[in-house]
Amino acid sequence: MTSRLVFVLNGPNLNLLGKRQPHIYGHETLADVERDCRALAAELGLEIRFHQSNAEHQLIDWIHEAREIAGGIVMNPAAYTHTSVGILDALNTFDAPVIEVHISNVHKRESFRHHSYVSLRADGVIAGCGTQGYLFGLRRIAALMDVAAKKAG
Ligand code: DQA
Repeated sequence: MTSRLVFVLNGPNLNLLGKRQPHIYGHETLADVERDCRALAAELGLEIRFHQSNAEHQLIDWIHEAREIAGGIVMNPAAYTHTSVGILDALNTFDAPVIEVHISNVHKRESFRHHSYVSLRADGVIAGCGTQGYLFGLRRIAALMDVAAKKAG
């Protein structure tokens, strides 16, 4: 059976969610997002590990940890989306579903936000749905896990 454990990973500056440019990212804090993810995960029968770091190497280390134990990753890589080959390489070592989430619609913003290294690996990308995007990401991972479990019999 595939693991029902999902890592929800958040990149730089997301610790300031709710205080940081609320006209773009809204008023919800990362603690609010974590609470909502935990509530939905319980409903979907998922276990989650919810992490945030401003450090690229820490995010890479969590992806390596997920590799050993998790059945999916929901990730908002924040600014590293647009810069990090290291995070892309780490995600390429992970065999289960990866959903990339952006709170804002990056395609409506500056052109440097239109390119994502992570999208080269992600199985799905959610942008511009606010913090609800994390919940859509968890639902998608659960659905993909159900399909995989059915296939495995
Ligand atoms: C973001 C979009 C990125 O371009 C930005 O650097 C972020 C947050 C989002 O959630 O909309 O920090 O990933």
